[in-house]
Amino acid sequence: MKKILLSGVKPTGQAHIGNYFGAMKQMVDLQNSGNFNCHLFIADYHALNLIQNKEEMKKLTLELALDYLAIGLDPRKSIIFKQSDISAHTELAWIFDTIVTVPYLERAHAFKDAEAKNKEINVGTFNYPVLMAADILLYNTDVVPVGQDQKQHIEYARDIALKFNHIFGAKDVAEYSDLVFKLPEPLIMENVAVVPGVDGRKMSKSYNNTIPLFATREEITKAVMSIVTDSGMGAVGPDGKPSDGKPMNIYNIHKLFKSEVKLNELYEMNKGKYKALKDALIEDIDEFVKPMRERRLKLAQNPGKVMKILEKGAKQARKIADKKLKQVKEAVGVI
Ligand code: ADP
Ligand code: TRP
Repeated sequence: MKKILLSGVKPTGQAHIGNYFGAMKQMVDLQNSGNFNCHLFIADYHALNLIQNKEEMKKLTLELALDYLAIGLDPRKSIIFKQSDISAHTELAWIFDTIVTVPYLERAHAFKDAEAKNKEINVGTFNYPVLMAADILLYNTDVVPVGQDQKQHIEYARDIALKFNHIFGAKDVAEYSDLVFKLPEPLIMENVAVVPGVDGRKMSKSYNNTIPLFATREEITKAVMSIVTDSGMGAVGPDGKPSDGKPMNIYNIHKLFKSEVKLNELYEMNKGKYKALKDALIEDIDEFVKPMRERRLKLAQNPGKVMKILEKGAKQARKIADKKLKQVKEAVGVI
């Protein structure tokens, strides 16, 4: 029996290499391993908390679909769809809303961060983990490949599954084989859990420190040249060991594109030569990205085809999600 895998990304802006190495690459690798039934979606309803402009939403959704296909997600191997096409997600989220408490959601990192910034957050942002739990649990998901920052959200999904099962599901051990919701596991690759940005902080759209995944050679050059080279002696690497004079902000990004052995040779040979090291990094990123960038350009010429792929994926996803939702509605007694 294949395990069930599910993951999603919000269409909130240009994908960057942090998104790719932290989450999207795992989707492709696991899809191609043949060991999983993959459900990969565009979390447009989650994005609606941020993107509140019709044209922008449409554009960013198409762009993410192009990204998915260009990195190698394959509609013949995976179910690729858009969250808003499957109404079961929001319907299940409502049912979960009725069993999830306010203090519990107030403990979410994302909520606390927003509060710390004194933002008057909307209900959608507050409820974010509930919709995400619905995304995951509707498909009987076993594994969710994501970056480190999403770990707490998977824990919320597990807690919500347990609570639902407790209230409405299996009442004794004998029934446990027939649990209403399975407990999902996060799949986080430790070595790429937090990809650093050009300023050394976590790479993130919201920090303006990204290297876009489908950047042109010129854009790559611009981003790499802006990497802050604050190494010096006394700096430490991600493992807490002394950096040995290596420019760690360059090195930590370079590590994604070259084996550590080759990299150490290169950095040894070019000690203190930041320009040469940055040039080498530009070369390596460009070589890596080029085939994906070219595939994306081709796909972009036919947006109709991309939309068709999402429609086909929606049909497949709806079948699974609707079946599960029916089970849930029976369990709570509304049908
Ligand atoms: P951003 O922080 O740029 O807005 P998202 O929140 O859209 O990124 O994240 C999409 C996916 O990419 C998530 O699974 C997230 O964990 C992963 N991700 C984002 N940034 C990084 C990073 N710097 N390192 C590793 N994974 C990341
Ligand atoms: N919260 C995820 C992010 O910010 C996106 C997401 C929404 C997701 N629903 C999901 C990821 C379900 C995995 C599974 O990147």
